[in-house]
Amino acid sequence: MTETIFTRDILQGKVAFVTGGGTGITGGIARAMAEHGAKLAITSRKTENLEPMKKLIEDGGGECLAVAADVRDYEAVESAIAQTVEHFGKIDIVVNGAAGNFLCAADELSANGFGTVVDIDTKGTFNVCRASFEELKRSKGQILNISATLHYLATPMQIHVSAAKAGVDAITRNLSVEWGRYGIRVNGIAPGPIEDTEGMKRLLPEPLKDKITKKIPLGRFGRIKDIENAALFLTSDAAGYINGVTLVVDGGQWLLGTSLA
Ligand code: HXC
Repeated sequence: MTETIFTRDILQGKVAFVTGGGTGITGGIARAMAEHGAKLAITSRKTENLEPMKKLIEDGGGECLAVAADVRDYEAVESAIAQTVEHFGKIDIVVNGAAGNFLCAADELSANGFGTVVDIDTKGTFNVCRASFEELKRSKGQILNISATLHYLATPMQIHVSAAKAGVDAITRNLSVEWGRYGIRVNGIAPGPIEDTEGMKRLLPEPLKDKITKKIPLGRFGRIKDIENAALFLTSDAAGYINGVTLVVDGGQWLLGTSLA
């Protein structure tokens, strides 16, 4: 188990359904939730992306169900939700972390390339929220959507992701208003540059990383652990009156307009 500043039981008895939960930031969130008492269902397009995280969670004494599902496919999402409920009896927390990303200039990006990322990030987030609504209504549960800060200003080579994540933030706000009456809290996290992810290694050349580090007010890149801590806080009872917020976790990076591309 990793070190924690929280008590180990803050999510005790909860069942969390985490898309993209095998790797990266959302993998960290899944593992952290398991280490704080939750039972986990993790999804990804490919089972092989889930097995190592399932083993890690189980080796740490947690319970984990791995279900392959493409969030673009509503029926597959419905099936994954149904399997989770059959296995654990309920769902309390939904984390939307499945995301697509690559660097591409707008004048070179195909319509299908743009649409693919919007389909994964935005439509995928809606699909999972919509398909889990009845379960969340029953559990008075909550949703945590992972977006980004790319669209707060403008990020070259990221028009597709910026548009997609702006849509995710809109979903967070709209659902918090529409579903708050059922006791469902809907919040988001907008991570800044997080250094220990495959995505960041792939998307950010090393020389640019040094340049950006100097311009981050807190003087360092984020770590997956920073996002895990924000996720534990937002999904715990400590945040019981927080609804409709997308919490920026970026060391103050976006306020200085330091472009990531
Ligand atoms: C230009 C590209 C491309 C690239 C794919 N496409 N990769 N265009 N540059 N590098 C285009 C294809 O040409 C095609 O359009 C369309 O996208 C669909 O491609 P497919 O390969 O058929 O789609 P699919 O297999 O469904 O998914 C592709 C993918 C996905 C979206 C690229 O494999 C992916 O994103 N993998 C990485 C996942 C990842 O790293 N997630 C973490 C995200 S981190 P045409 O027109 O040719 O048919 C994150 C944080 C944000 O989101 C902040 C970061 C700074």
